[in-house]
Amino acid sequence: MRKILVAGNWKMHGSTAMVQELLDSLLTAPARAEVDMAVFPPFPYLPLAQSLLADSPIAWGAQNLNPAAQGAHTGEVSASMLLEFGCRYVLVGHSERRTLYGETDEDVADRFERALEAGLEPVLCVGETLEEREQDRTEEVVDRQLEAVIGRSGMAGFQRAVVAYEPVWAIGTGRTASPEQAQAVHAFIRDKFASRDGIIAGQLRILYGGSVKGSNAADLFAREDIDGGLVGGASLKADDFLAIRDAVA
Ligand code: PGA
Repeated sequence: MRKILVAGNWKMHGSTAMVQELLDSLLTAPARAEVDMAVFPPFPYLPLAQSLLADSPIAWGAQNLNPAAQGAHTGEVSASMLLEFGCRYVLVGHSERRTLYGETDEDVADRFERALEAGLEPVLCVGETLEEREQDRTEEVVDRQLEAVIGRSGMAGFQRAVVAYEPVWAIGTGRTASPEQAQAVHAFIRDKFASRDGIIAGQLRILYGGSVKGSNAADLFAREDIDGGLVGGASLKADDFLAIRDAVA
């Protein structure tokens, strides 16, 4: 059985005080061993997350990494740096990285491969824009984004990775994909993997992201191929984030 993962992508939000308060609240809330949780703070707060979350069941990860091992890459962060701060996961190919910072499918594949090599678990984000959905190109776009990574890392790369389907039109807009719309794309993704390797497809966690809230999480998580959520805005307040976790049946 795939265990539901509820992951909080904090994006470029936070302060030392906020991180401390939010993580303290998550840690003091009654635990639910049947749900995995993870948070993705901005880079400067990773040491604080590490010190607060070590020995807790909550995992943490980074929002990006550079594929190079080291060198002249001003402003970038390497996999080995993330490992020093205990990261288990790293987001790869978030739509904001793709659209605001020009990451191509090939860049995303490089990052995914580097994360795997380093022993991090990449959370590969894919998803279509509103225009692409309206042109009925959702599957084509998601397929292309996945193929770039499969082409580089092979199916085996997904033995230790998570996929997050995040329709760009649902991110930060308050407009969630309906459970039916999300499930349809999740099933497409799982079938695609299953056509190559049934075992990997069966174990792969596919998260939904895009305006997940306490009020819509239960319906999303009840769908067969939705194995949790990548939560942005609602992960910044402990009560909202916990309400999503508690929506897991
Ligand atoms: P949102 O963001 O929950 O604020 O829509 C999700 C994400 O970008 O991962």
